[in-house]
Amino acid sequence: MELLKGIRSIFIKALVCIMIISSLAACQSGNNSKQTSTSVNAVTSSPKSSTEITSTGSGQTIDQKVSDLLAKMTLDEKVGQMMQPTRDRLPASDIKKYFIGSVLSGGGSHPGNNTKEDWIQMCTDYQNAAKSTRLGIPIIYGIDAVHGHNTIYGAVVFPQNIGLGAAQDPELMTEIGNVTAQEMITSGVNWDFGPCIAVARDERWGRTYESYSESPDIVSSMCAPFIKALQANGITACAKHYVADGGAMFGVAGNKYPIDQGNAVISEDELRKIHLPGYEAAIKAGAKTIMASFSSWNGVKMHENKYLITDVLKGELGFKGFVVSDYEAVHQLKEGNLSNQVIACINSGVDMLMEPNHWKEIIGIIKDAVNSGKISKARLDDAVARILKVKFEMGLFENPLGDQKLAAGDFGEEKNREVAQKAVRESLVLLKNQKNVLPLKKNAKIFVAGPAANNVGIQCGGWTKTWQGGMDKNGSKWMEGTTILEGFQNMAKENGGTIITDPNKAKDADVTVLVIGEKPYAEYEGDDSKLDLYNGMALPENKKAIDEAKAAGKPIVTILISGRPRIVTNEINSWDAFVAAWLPGTEGAAITDVLYGDYDFTGKLSFTWPKSVGQLPINVDAMNGKDPLFPFGFGLKMKK
Ligand code: GLC
Repeated sequence: MELLKGIRSIFIKALVCIMIISSLAACQSGNNSKQTSTSVNAVTSSPKSSTEITSTGSGQTIDQKVSDLLAKMTLDEKVGQMMQPTRDRLPASDIKKYFIGSVLSGGGSHPGNNTKEDWIQMCTDYQNAAKSTRLGIPIIYGIDAVHGHNTIYGAVVFPQNIGLGAAQDPELMTEIGNVTAQEMITSGVNWDFGPCIAVARDERWGRTYESYSESPDIVSSMCAPFIKALQANGITACAKHYVADGGAMFGVAGNKYPIDQGNAVISEDELRKIHLPGYEAAIKAGAKTIMASFSSWNGVKMHENKYLITDVLKGELGFKGFVVSDYEAVHQLKEGNLSNQVIACINSGVDMLMEPNHWKEIIGIIKDAVNSGKISKARLDDAVARILKVKFEMGLFENPLGDQKLAAGDFGEEKNREVAQKAVRESLVLLKNQKNVLPLKKNAKIFVAGPAANNVGIQCGGWTKTWQGGMDKNGSKWMEGTTILEGFQNMAKENGGTIITDPNKAKDADVTVLVIGEKPYAEYEGDDSKLDLYNGMALPENKKAIDEAKAAGKPIVTILISGRPRIVTNEINSWDAFVAAWLPGTEGAAITDVLYGDYDFTGKLSFTWPKSVGQLPINVDAMNGKDPLFPFGFGLKMKK
C-alpha cells in the first residue's frame, strides 16, 4: 500500500510540475502575443506571415521585429518610409539622405538602355544606399508589370486582363504570375502595381482592358491565383484601384476626363455587391498592398475617404498590408492646399504617397503635421508599421533584389513565351462562324488585310514599353514578338498555303482575313465616347480595310484587336466569321493556331457586347431591358 501511495504522490507532483511548466509556457506565448499587440495576419500565401519566426533565426515573430524596429526610428526615418519618388528624379544619395522607403518607375521609365544589367545595377545602387542608412531598411521598388514585365523591351507581354477574363483559366493566371515574377526578379524589382481588379461597367472607359470583367466573380477568380503566384515568388502584389474605379459614370459634370478618374454615383449596396468583392478575394489571396483610386464615390475622392479605406478596408475586411496613393493623386483633393490635402489623405488611411515631384515638401508637411498633432503619432506609426511588415513578410531584408536563384537567363525566354501563347489562344472569343468558314484550310489562299494584321505594338496596347504604348513603324517592332500576319505566313509556308497582302490580288484568294482594331492607349487617353470602328481610339485605316475586304468578294473572317467591345452592328452582317482577340500581346501568331483548327475556341465574353453606344452602361446584372449584340458569357466553338 505504502508503495502505491509513494507512486501516487510522485505522479501528482509530476502532474503539477507539468502544469506549471505548461502554464509558464502559455504565459510566455501570451506575453509574446501581448508584445506583438497587432492582430495575427491571417495571410497564408506570402513567404512569411506575421506570426512566423523570421528566417534570420532571431527567434522573433515578424510583428515583434516590426515593433522593435519602429521603436528605434526617428521621425525623419518614419516619414521617409512613406515616400515613393520616381526613379528618373531620384539619385541613390537621396535614399540615404531622406531615408526613402520606396521608389517607382512611372509608365515606361527605365534605367540606361533598359537592359537586364541596367536594371540590376540601378536596383543594386538603390538597395545599397538604403542598406547604408542607420537602420538599413530595404527599398520596395514598384512598377506596372500589368501584362508581363511590360516596361522591358524583350520581355514577354501577355494578353491584357480583358482577354484573361475571357479565358477564365485560374491555372493560367498562376502560370502568368510565375512568369511575370521571374522576369521582374531578373530585373531586380520587387513590387508589381498589379493586378488591376477594376470591375469596368462602361466600355467607354480607357481602362476597360485592364479589367478582367464587368462581373466581380470573374475579377475575383482571376486575380487571386495571380496574386498568390507573384507573392509566392517574392514579388509584392498591389490590388488596384480601391475602390469602384470601374464604376465611374460617363460624362458627369465635373469629371476631369470623360470617364476616367470620374465619379461613381452608386449606392453603398451596389458598391459592396459589385466593386468590393475583388478586394475581399485579393486580401484572402494575401495581397500585401492596395492602391487607392483617383476616382470618387458619390462626390468624395477615394484618397480622402476614411470610411472606405480605414473603416471598411482595414477594419471590416481586415487588410493588414499598406495602402499606396496613386500618382500625385493627393494633389486632386478638395482641400486645395497641399498641406491640408496630405493630412486628409494620410488621416483617411493612405500609408504611402506616390510623389515624383513634391516628396521633399511633403516630408516637411508630414513632420509638421505629426508635431502639431494634425496627424497623430498612432496614425504615423500604423502607416510605417504596415510598410515595414510587408517588407519583412516579403523577405526584402534577406533578399532586397528578390531571390536571384529564380531569375531567368534573360527576358523573353521561349518557355515563358509559350505561356503567353497559351493565354492568347484561350483568350479568343468566336462570336460568329457562318458556313463554318472556320477553321481555315492550312493550304488555303488567304488575303490578309487590315492595319492590325502586322503590328506587335497594336497587339499589345498601352502599358507596353511606355505608358501609352506605341505602334511598330518602318519595319521595326515596338516589342519583340510575332504578328498575326507572321502566324499566317509561317502556317502557309509549312502547309503549302498562300498568303496575299496585295489588295489587287485579293480576288485570287479563297478567303479574306480582316484584322482591324484600336490605337494603343492608356488611362484617360483611351476614354472613347463613340466606340465605333472609325472614330476615337479606332485605327484610322479600319475603314479602308473593311472596304477592301468587301471588294475582294470572298468570305470574310474579321478579327478585332481591341481593349474592349466596339460597335460592329452595322458591319458584322457582311462578315462570315467574327473573332474578338482583345489585346493579345507579343505572341500574336498564336491566334492562327486556333484559326487553322489546331486548337478550338474556348473563350467566353466577360463583358456584355452592346449593339450601340446608347445602350451603355449595359452589364449582365443590370441589362435594364436592353438587348445586346452578344450577351455576357457568349462564345462559340468551331467543332460541334
Ligand atoms: C497611374 C495609374 C496606376 C499606376 C500608377 C503608377 O496613374 O493610375 O494604375 O500603377 O500611375 O504608374
